[in-house]
Amino acid sequence: MKRILTYGTYDLLHYGHIRLLKRAKQMGDYLIVALSTDDFNAIKNKKAYHNYETRKQMLEAIRYVDLVIPENTWDQKIDDVKTYQVDTVVMGSDWKDSERFECLRPYCEVVYLDRTEGVSTTQIKNDLKLQDPINGIDQLPEEKEK
Ligand code: CTP
Repeated sequence: MKRILTYGTYDLLHYGHIRLLKRAKQMGDYLIVALSTDDFNAIKNKKAYHNYETRKQMLEAIRYVDLVIPENTWDQKIDDVKTYQVDTVVMGSDWKDSERFECLRPYCEVVYLDRTEGVSTTQIKNDLKLQDPINGIDQLPEEKEK
């Protein structure tokens, strides 16, 4: 089984994300998404509209995604590749040649896919004038026992 791993925040899910995940899954059999936690986003000076749990549940609902794990630090990638026996790490071309991913080459294949033109979370926030967001809407109902 060929195992693929990709990283990202995946806030305000859009078709650029879906196209990336679809192509990533097509490269293998099992797709893992390492999803930036809210604390890690703070380190990156990013603030997601939706919190980690909401973003995770949305990703888990996508047919291409088999597993979502937390991305807590910049430095966990080699451990992730080993722990999950990853064959290929896939990222959008905005990360092309970044040492953050190039350093994985001794451990797995590293592939950059073209970004989808004309859409990004930042663009959506700008268009909707959410540049200084508020805390987002995270009203997931409590899971009830059946
Ligand atoms: N991605 C893509 N095409 C886009 C936007 C994102 O292929 N138009 C890819 C990124 O390259 C990355 C993954 O989707 O591999 C998750 O990206 P993320 O940073 O979460 O989304 P962005 O929309 O790029 O968010 P931001 O504007 O906050 O950077």
